[in-house]
Amino acid sequence: MNVLILGGGGREHALALKVKESPQCNKLFISPGNGGTPNYAENVSLTTNEDLLEFCKKEEITLVIVGPEKYLVDGTVDFLRSGGVTVFGPGKDSANIEADKLFAKELMVNNNVPTGIYKEFTTTSSKEDIYLYLKKQRYPIVIKANGLAAGKGVAICRNIYDALDAVLLNFDQKAFGEASNKILVEEFLTGEEASLFVVSDGEDYLCLPTAQDHKRIGNNDTGKNTGGMGAYAPAFVVSDELLKIIEDKIVKPTLLGLKQLGTPFIGCLFCGLILTKDGPKVIEFNARFGDPETQVVVNVIEGDFLELLYSAAKGKINKNAISYNGGVSVCIVTASNGYPDDYETNFEISGLDRIDDSIAKVYHAGTVLKEGKLLTNGGRVLGVTSFVKEKNFDEAVKLAYKAVSKISYDNIYYRTDIGKRALNL
Ligand code: AMP
Ligand code: GLY
Repeated sequence: MNVLILGGGGREHALALKVKESPQCNKLFISPGNGGTPNYAENVSLTTNEDLLEFCKKEEITLVIVGPEKYLVDGTVDFLRSGGVTVFGPGKDSANIEADKLFAKELMVNNNVPTGIYKEFTTTSSKEDIYLYLKKQRYPIVIKANGLAAGKGVAICRNIYDALDAVLLNFDQKAFGEASNKILVEEFLTGEEASLFVVSDGEDYLCLPTAQDHKRIGNNDTGKNTGGMGAYAPAFVVSDELLKIIEDKIVKPTLLGLKQLGTPFIGCLFCGLILTKDGPKVIEFNARFGDPETQVVVNVIEGDFLELLYSAAKGKINKNAISYNGGVSVCIVTASNGYPDDYETNFEISGLDRIDDSIAKVYHAGTVLKEGKLLTNGGRVLGVTSFVKEKNFDEAVKLAYKAVSKISYDNIYYRTDIGKRALNL
């Protein structure tokens, strides 16, 4: 098969490496890719839908695998599909499960999927109604911009003053553009979080091993939310019994609900879960693989990952294509100091040649090759990912940090507590 992966982050680098392992993989392209992907795939730069379709025809692309949500919500997937291309990723309508939080909430309510209680407000809601509602709440509460906000649209409000600030940020300052036109005021849920990737062909599905993300910038989950500063897999906090409940109460009704709306979900349904004392609940859905969860999940599966994605995209998922390999994986994201706010780039990265696969794999994210030099080029720079064959997180954490210690570039920043929760559970 000739495969084209869309995106250029750590997630896409990890997908590329895993797909390349498949005996069915012939040519592998990635658009735009990053400074690390040329080792396994050919970087191409395709910016318009027309360019993408023409490229798929010219290179006889068997499968397009979509990384970031932008290609889902801007109609690229629908465009390529209507042009006869096989795509792993949902069309715009079913991707609304990520892009429109109210759509996701209504879908959950209509299908009895457990999630936090919420109330919607819009820019036309009366200020007084909003105030009275916020005054009645028990704090903390969560206020979310309805649309896509690059992971920044969620405010945990400790009191009514925080809540009023969050309302102003959305409705007056339009902090997240159109995404701010509607907000959800949501019940604050407590419990361990877990990420579950569900690969679906529109009807049937396969759950991949679970993972846990580390969203905050600082140690002990402090500071601002980020795209993700590290991850580990599997998240053993999700036992087999719990997974069965999650499948029955969350995965099956959600996929069925989308199918009944006439928009079956083909791709990776990412269930962001919180394990409350009343059972697992959905915090959010994404319509794609997560980053950095993908970096660890691909390391704990064996088999033909390309076959899994291709069979799902073709409408008949081969659930025997992959299985859990019995091991554990830990990914530490090294970032540029200042991220998730302003940061500098263009610093030379060194030390990667001192890390071999027996210690860790290094997935690139914000890197670029310029005149033979590898330079930083983004907020999240590398995803340093260890794998241990046994269920030994202690060892996996040690290996990942050993690899990180060999890397240097100016303004490097990383958390020093990634995987700690796995050790303590
Ligand atoms: P999201 O961008 O929706 O994944 O939210 C970012 C983070 O905010 C989540 O990983 C949670 O830690 C937190 N969060 C979102 N919704 C809730 C909620 N209802 N209760 C508690 N924490 C939440
Ligand atoms: N790591 C969370 C996400 O990809 O949205």
